[in-house]
Amino acid sequence: MGSNSNPIGVIDSGVGGLSMVIALDQLLSSEEIVYVADPLHFPYGEKAKNELIHIVSSLVSYLNENLKAKLIITACGTISSNCLEELSALFQVPIIGIIDPASREAVRKTKTGKVVVLATSATVKSSTFQKHIQRIHSSITVKEEAWPEFVEAVEKGLHQTDDWRKWIHTQLIGFQQENFDTIIMGCTHFALISSFFQDIAETTFEIINPAIATAQEVKEYLAKSNLLNPSELSKKRIIVRGNSTNMKKTIQKYTDLQKINIEAFPEKIIENFINKAQRYCTPASTPM
Ligand code: DGL
Repeated sequence: MGSNSNPIGVIDSGVGGLSMVIALDQLLSSEEIVYVADPLHFPYGEKAKNELIHIVSSLVSYLNENLKAKLIITACGTISSNCLEELSALFQVPIIGIIDPASREAVRKTKTGKVVVLATSATVKSSTFQKHIQRIHSSITVKEEAWPEFVEAVEKGLHQTDDWRKWIHTQLIGFQQENFDTIIMGCTHFALISSFFQDIAETTFEIINPAIATAQEVKEYLAKSNLLNPSELSKKRIIVRGNSTNMKKTIQKYTDLQKINIEAFPEKIIENFINKAQRYCTPASTPM
């Protein structure tokens, strides 16, 4: 268990985790945040489960053992829906995912009882959102859709084209005709651009940004565990494993975090953690 001034770790494959940094910055500005993005292994949503656990274990190890994170947030629908149980069993540090908070928020918001989840292939395949939502309220209809090409477009900052706008408009009209009124941004890449969806929609959907619901849960957890950082304002760090070009561009365009210096992931240090992670699990070639 960490102490109050230790950082909160945030993990995602790419730019989606920025949605969590923004939400934490607004709700928990006194906390130190260390966001590790892993574009080297993007897209997580097309990976086999064992491979994903293997990759993410090294990041969790690094945050946990090297940076002494008091809590880790998997700011990624794919990790949260596929690996949360395994990671929580492997590590002592508390790990919070986005599925539960987002599901609860969607159940609270829907009036028609029909919820859409937009996510990666791996998230949809796991049906985790559907299971969580229906566990809260069994009569809610859940439609889960995988949009892997759109995840990639957002990662590269290439989603603001007329073609994508038209395509999304068509999908949203379809949801509306089927009486869906609530959409969970089940991939954090989409959460980052929630307003883009709202602009395209002709009617108002309840758009659930999991980062906001999760940040609230994190705040409650820290308060309950006496782990809130009493400092006035703490720093934010962004560490990128692989090429940081997309991250830099996205930060400029969608956030107020421009002042943060992007750090390169310490591959040398991580070797130890990768070796350790290898003991936890070996990458498998079998698809999920
Ligand atoms: N942002 C991620 C998610 O929420 C991962 C996208 C990907 O790497 O495929 O699922």
